[in-house]
Amino acid sequence: MSISLFSLKNKTALVTGSSRGLGHAIAVGLAQAGASIVLNGANRDRLVAAFSKMREEGMSVRESCFDVTDEASVIAAFEAFDREGVAIDILVNNAGIQLRKPMVELSTAEWQRVIDTNLTSAFIVGREAAKRMIPRGSGKIVNIGSLTSELARATVAPYTVAKGGIKMLTKAMTAEWAEHGIQVNAIGPGYMLTDMNEALIANPQFDAWVKGRTPARRWGKPEELVGAAIFLASAASDYVSGQIIYVDGGMISVL
Ligand SMILES: NC(=O)c1ccc[n+]([C@@H]2O[C@H](COP(=O)([O-])OP(=O)(O)OC[C@H]3O[C@@H](n4cnc5c(N)ncnc54)[C@H](OP(=O)(O)O)[C@@H]3O)[C@@H](O)[C@H]2O)c1
Repeated sequence: MSISLFSLKNKTALVTGSSRGLGHAIAVGLAQAGASIVLNGANRDRLVAAFSKMREEGMSVRESCFDVTDEASVIAAFEAFDREGVAIDILVNNAGIQLRKPMVELSTAEWQRVIDTNLTSAFIVGREAAKRMIPRGSGKIVNIGSLTSELARATVAPYTVAKGGIKMLTKAMTAEWAEHGIQVNAIGPGYMLTDMNEALIANPQFDAWVKGRTPARRWGKPEELVGAAIFLASAASDYVSGQIIYVDGGMISVL
């Protein structure tokens, strides 16, 4: 086996929600494996700050600010890539939000916002990417799931439904696009140290629950997703399709 199997040289990767958190760590990891990165986020200031830092560090990076739930903006971003001659070889559908509330208190608008951001966005961005990958006969799509792709937890119903949907969207995309040389897979992170979990990390009870419930006895670090991301974005996974790899310190394997 050659290390070049994992090289992303001459590949361009769009990582949605990569201004911070897991998406940013994945973007930096893919860049270090040789890819040119298209960094994305909805907040322009955060995006520009992340983009400038990567550029200063010598990485090949451009930024594309759009809200993944705004279909017209997604389409416009891909049309801009077309005009600029940027072919997206690798798409990581990572952008997501959390909202913690008991279901009986949840409004339909709140439900819809979580589903739109975590699930429908992956369909819309995935569709625009695949339209361009299909004629080229190659492409890699990595969707970001969660332990809630398999298991439910109180107060996060729409997130659980969206991430369960990500697992099946990964299979649906595989069913239609594998024959075009596009491999679609997913990563299911465990509990990771990011802004999304700020309140949970600061809560001693929750922190103790995560450490007790995870066989590795600790939270995950964002950069610990990079190995799985490089594998699923590279030639090393050319016959791997429709899978979800859990990077969770073993949490999903135990009761
Ligand atoms: N952290 C965990 O423990 C964990 C576990 C399992 C799965 N995940 C999943 O991993 C992904 C990243 O989570 P994270 O913890 O890194 O979250 P995070 O720290 O809150 O970062 C979220 C990223 O997504 C972007 N984003 C949010 N809504 C967007 C939108 N409508 N359009 C474009 N970008 C948007 C944010 O950009 P702005 O700066 O513009 O807001 C930010 O870059 C999510 O899909 C999440 O569900 C996380």
